[in-house]
Amino acid sequence: MKIALGSDHGGITLREAVIKAVADGGHELIDFGTDKSDSCDYPDYALLVANAVVSGVADKGILLCGTGIGMSIAANKVKGIRCAHVTDVFSAQMCAEHNNANVIALGGRITDPDTAYKIVTTYLSAAFAGGRHQRRLDKVAAIENGEEL
Ligand code: RB5
Repeated sequence: MKIALGSDHGGITLREAVIKAVADGGHELIDFGTDKSDSCDYPDYALLVANAVVSGVADKGILLCGTGIGMSIAANKVKGIRCAHVTDVFSAQMCAEHNNANVIALGGRITDPDTAYKIVTTYLSAAFAGGRHQRRLDKVAAIENGEEL
């Protein structure tokens, strides 16, 4: 798969581990930065990654900021994005299997690099289960489109 990566200054401590997990899984990285510690604005990077995913340039996206919260909020404003804020390996698996998350967001100030590696490896290895979960995601899409459930 092609994996889009975006980070602000608060998330760069996880970049190396995430890049390694993407490469170890045999995936291609599309790196939107930042790789610098200068203060920057997470929505700029969330939008780059979200647009790459909804346009099909990337299959999935990974966002890094201090907590992962700002990145997930910003990415989820883009129609078609299902971004999961993930802090543990079980959630990484569930967000792929049940929520078909097309982006995950991690926090460099709350998650250590080893855990980030495991989260990304798990997320990229897991497959959407479909079935009843698709019905629920159809309802999520309906909410996004302002339709009745
Ligand atoms: C930047 O200081 C910090 O606010 C940002 O990385 C992120 O944690 C926001 O949610």
